[in-house]
Amino acid sequence: MSTRPKLTISDDDKRDKVRAHYGVIALGGGCGSAPSSAASTCCGATGGSSCCVESGPSSEFGYTKEELRSLPEGADLGLGCGNPTAILSLRKGQTVLDLGSGAGIDCFLAAKRVGLKGSVIGVDMTPEMLAKARENARKAGLKNVEFRLGEIEHLPVADASVDVVISNCVINLAPDKGTVYREAYRALRPGGVLVVSDMIATRPISPAERADPLLWTSCLSGAIEASEVTSLLERAGFVKIRVEPRVPQRPSRSRKDRTTPAVVPADVRARKPGA
Ligand SMILES: C[S@@+](CC[C@H](N)C(=O)[O-])C[C@H]1O[C@@H](n2cnc3c(N)ncnc32)[C@H](O)[C@@H]1O
Repeated sequence: MSTRPKLTISDDDKRDKVRAHYGVIALGGGCGSAPSSAASTCCGATGGSSCCVESGPSSEFGYTKEELRSLPEGADLGLGCGNPTAILSLRKGQTVLDLGSGAGIDCFLAAKRVGLKGSVIGVDMTPEMLAKARENARKAGLKNVEFRLGEIEHLPVADASVDVVISNCVINLAPDKGTVYREAYRALRPGGVLVVSDMIATRPISPAERADPLLWTSCLSGAIEASEVTSLLERAGFVKIRVEPRVPQRPSRSRKDRTTPAVVPADVRARKPGA
């Protein structure tokens, strides 16, 4: 029997592993609750620069202490890699869609900004996460937030129905990123904006790394390079595209860097033409 690592894993398998991984985290209450085989892996092996930060100091990713204090208990699982609501000016009355809403952290912050005349929709494919987010909204008594079960590749929202699409450390986990961006474009009204915090790769990721479920679910090996993000957004129809890594990207020749997926957090913005 061959012991060579698998070089391929189907898109459905990847989604199943991601769903299982974040289901465990939702039930356990945070990043540290990933199964032992995946010790520290929802946070990636990069010591806090990936999908989440162990012990959850989300303030490192741009959330103010006031924002974190204002959240319902359990909404911040420390799974993000940025603060998309901080890098755009949400206005009262807007409709916001959060791709991969987790326990609801960014939906709750957006809900405050858009007020009762606005609304926020969180979409997540993991039923345990969805249940947690809905419970958090109920506890906080928030009436302008709803959470829908669904894959971000097939968004459960009408065409041209939202003003802003946000997402935090999720799109790297999706096997078909082109479809995700096309769906975001479809959901946005003309003139609407996409604001995403996500991990991007600083070097090509090998097929073996892409096929490693632990690296994938850890937000390490699903990331693509900035130029690929730009090209997928362009192909979806977006304009005014900006992909800005939040840490310097330096090509490295060290052996370790060639064997560990190199990813950095980045802010991505784009606009749907029109209006
Ligand atoms: C790293 S967590 C981030 C959660 C949240 N955005 C936050 O910042 O706390 C990734 C979330 O995205 C969801 N997710 C991953 N891939 C998805 C997909 N293809 N469709 C819908 N949800 C997805 C997972 O279930 C999980 O809740």
